[in-house]
Amino acid sequence: MTATTPVDTSSSTAFREASRRRTFAVISHPDAGKSTLTEALALHAKVISEAGAVHGKAGRRGVVSDWMEMEQSRGISITSAALQFAYGDAVINLLDTPGHADFSEDTYRVLSAVDCAVMLLDAAKGLEPQTLKLFDVCRHRGIPVITFINKWDRPGRDALDLCEEIKQRIDLEPMPLTWPVGEAGRFRGVLDRADGSFIRYTRTAGGATAAPEERIEPARALDEEGEDWTHAVESAELIDISGGEFDVAKFFDATGTPVLFGSGVLNFGVRHLLDLIVALAPRPTPRIGVDGTSRSLDAPFSGFVFKVQTGMDKAHRDQVAFARVCSGVFERGMVVTNATTGKPFATKYAQQVFGRERTTLDVAYPGDVIGLINASALRVGDTLHAGKPAVRFPGLPSFAPEHFAVAYPADLSRAKQFRKGVDQLAQEGVVQVLSSERRGDGTPVFGAVGPMQFEVAVHRLLAEFGCQVKLDHLPYKMVRKLGDPKQRATTNLGNRGEYFTRADGTELVVFTDQTALNVTLRLNEGFLLEPLVAGT
Ligand code: G4P
Repeated sequence: MTATTPVDTSSSTAFREASRRRTFAVISHPDAGKSTLTEALALHAKVISEAGAVHGKAGRRGVVSDWMEMEQSRGISITSAALQFAYGDAVINLLDTPGHADFSEDTYRVLSAVDCAVMLLDAAKGLEPQTLKLFDVCRHRGIPVITFINKWDRPGRDALDLCEEIKQRIDLEPMPLTWPVGEAGRFRGVLDRADGSFIRYTRTAGGATAAPEERIEPARALDEEGEDWTHAVESAELIDISGGEFDVAKFFDATGTPVLFGSGVLNFGVRHLLDLIVALAPRPTPRIGVDGTSRSLDAPFSGFVFKVQTGMDKAHRDQVAFARVCSGVFERGMVVTNATTGKPFATKYAQQVFGRERTTLDVAYPGDVIGLINASALRVGDTLHAGKPAVRFPGLPSFAPEHFAVAYPADLSRAKQFRKGVDQLAQEGVVQVLSSERRGDGTPVFGAVGPMQFEVAVHRLLAEFGCQVKLDHLPYKMVRKLGDPKQRATTNLGNRGEYFTRADGTELVVFTDQTALNVTLRLNEGFLLEPLVAGT
């Protein structure tokens, strides 16, 4: 669209465009194949013509972000942004969740901006720790989950066994829509449980192009696949008996998950996943403001900032705020109000950002993600809106930190800059800044979901505030919320733990390990500890 093309901002446009949107993220453990699957999805939607374009593994054409040297040297992506593409009449927004072992609070925050999640499992490994953490956030937020069991082209676990694990460990009803034909490692295709037919996949060279599919009647499938087909039919029947038929209500209330089997690298099962997302993933719905009223999709533009990133473009020390559109039509150039400060914000520089690629964005609808450049005035959790009525959405949740370190300026003459920098990082949610009586006045303790948040904080304090920072890592592993803050004065934790106060006033108690927690509870009868739920 050119600048001269008038944008249709009528309410029917907002509704129509919102109903085309499917906004989701992939939750997985590192190495389960998220980048490969992202490529495969883009390939099927014909965004790219050959796999290897988004992922950027060694030797492949890469568009993965390289905004920090740290990121480059590790070959990982810290940036969360969105890949948008059309698929049939639908518009897919795939939000990137940083997936390295050192993942951070940003990964969780992305989930506040999606309507659905795809849980990607490695067929040989099943549910892994990071997937479980991300799933907890989805559960807490009531986000419906589609499961894709990946890497079926190589030896792995039994399909029934994987379904049982989902049921037992996370209490989610597996509802397979397809069933693999050929055990893991000898993947021939899938039984489509909707009509009992066999979908046979054909390999393409290196999986670089979309895999051709052939739909085959059951009788011919039996003839051609023999025992593999019989085994698939029998296993699928077992699933029916154990109550695994598809029930859309269970998907929407997040008690059940449709399950698909496939191979991202071979592009097997990927079309099925895309079609399922289009058919099933919830469309954007009105978001509820802090006053309890919901903002209709056709109300004037509103959105919330779920991520702020500084220094993405080395040439210009810019700050990009990523916002999800919640209502109305966003047009580049419109002046919106930041509900937190009441100040206007001009959106002259709005972009779509994925990896290293940026394109100017002229118009966006509910469910879309906009990257606002030069956004130094915006913070994570801010609400932006145009026109009246004003709206403010709830601020972003914080998550239970799992790593703690005391931070000092290496050079005390930079103490003032250090304080300023720490305040800035806290506001942006780069790390949680905690205070502790034990550490003395003004000495902050950094709390993080993943240790990489510390690295980003140290890097930015040096690069932007000229402060070399020393970190003393603390040995705490368990965090709880103090049930009755008055008990703080009467309960001595000794060297088993420490009290911290979070910027939002939440009183935390941290312990070195489970034994330290148990001993404290034994020594202090009636000491009230509450779990710190992810996403509160
Ligand atoms: P991630 O983003 O979740 O961390 O995973 P990524 O896509 O980077 O995949 C991790 C490894 O798993 C890669 O191998 C990738 O090729 C492989 N992989 C992904 N999907 C499949 C699949 O469906 N089947 C099989 N067999 N392998 C899969 P690598 O050796 O680390 O990298 P590469 O050299 O193959 O790119």
